[in-house]
Amino acid sequence: MQNPLDSKLPHVGTTIFSVMSRLANETGAINLSQGFPSFEPPDALLERFEYYLRHGANQYAPMPGVPALLQAIADKTLRTQGRSLDSATELTVSTGATEGLFSAITALVRPGDEVILLDPAYDAYEPAIDLSGGRAVHVPLAIENDEFVVDWQPVADAISARTRAIVLNFPHNPTGAVIDRDGLETLAGLLRDTAVYVVSDEVYEHIVFDDGRHHSVLSHDELWERSIVISSFGKTFHATGWKVGYAAAPAALTNEFRKVHQFTTFAVNTPAQCALADYVESDPEFYLALSSFYQQKRDLFCKLLEPSRLRLRPSRSTFFQVADYSEISEQADVDVARLWTTEHGVATIPLSVFCETPFSGCRLRFCFAKDDETLARAAAILSEL
Ligand SMILES: Cc1ncc(COP(=O)(O)O)c(C=O)c1O
Repeated sequence: MQNPLDSKLPHVGTTIFSVMSRLANETGAINLSQGFPSFEPPDALLERFEYYLRHGANQYAPMPGVPALLQAIADKTLRTQGRSLDSATELTVSTGATEGLFSAITALVRPGDEVILLDPAYDAYEPAIDLSGGRAVHVPLAIENDEFVVDWQPVADAISARTRAIVLNFPHNPTGAVIDRDGLETLAGLLRDTAVYVVSDEVYEHIVFDDGRHHSVLSHDELWERSIVISSFGKTFHATGWKVGYAAAPAALTNEFRKVHQFTTFAVNTPAQCALADYVESDPEFYLALSSFYQQKRDLFCKLLEPSRLRLRPSRSTFFQVADYSEISEQADVDVARLWTTEHGVATIPLSVFCETPFSGCRLRFCFAKDDETLARAAAILSEL
């Protein structure tokens, strides 16, 4: 071809997660960058997967998902958020949350539409908006006492006749911010007389600390009417490699979601769905215990970092801890993340990559979903800096 390719995503390169993980592998650094756990899924879940591999669950699943898994998700949603979902018309199993987000955004966004993102924003949202001909409008979270919180006034200011949707992500990657009932009420008030949809990425729904609980958009009647809620089993069952997630939305929205889903992936891994269906019903204790499991990790990591010159407020949720390194270096976070990986052997994620306009200050994200020994080794290095 003579002409250079006219890219549809000119600003998109390889994701920072792949870049930092590759650098960590090349240099042998401890990888606290990419958000994957260093633990295995529960034995009983693995056993069910093996069982279904050997018992004929190897052909296409139904497009919306294996009925038993859809029902198990509906039962879990009723238990945890008090929302009764019709498993046939309001739930769809997706190839991880990533495909769910892509299908949701593609189903909603038309050329010229604006979509509000709260920065720092997970990097999967904007490319899907761009490919649909829309435009992301970035509203930064506010920082209060070293903590990221939503300032609703700039969100209100960003809503216009062009706004098609707002993407929420609570519990929040990378900052661990959470939304409470008041936050949901405020958002509902802002959207009341608009035609704005909500795409709510809740993949860390079962990881909230300090006796807090996750307030899902699913629990709010008014917001639910206009929402597509995306979640994933990857984070909940230490199975990020399985790539099984789901989308919950009222029937009319689910219908639009499935129009995209069926041509993006059509159907999701059958034995994994069957295994998850059995497991979600049989062991609710596992996801109920997840918050305390990760809270111990968070507490350990924060304690181990006490001698360091990193400044942090313990994360409220997820398995990420953000820390300010300004007492150690004044360099930009992207440079510091590279340098610490190659020179000191600890890989992290720079916060600025999640933002249109980087926050002032110097912040890195650390993933603490690692065994205690790995966290101790990383903290020992970080404490020397
Ligand atoms: C906020 C957020 N959304 C979505 C995803 C993607 O989830 P999945 O691996 O199920 O596609 C991730 C994974 O890190 C995430 O952190």
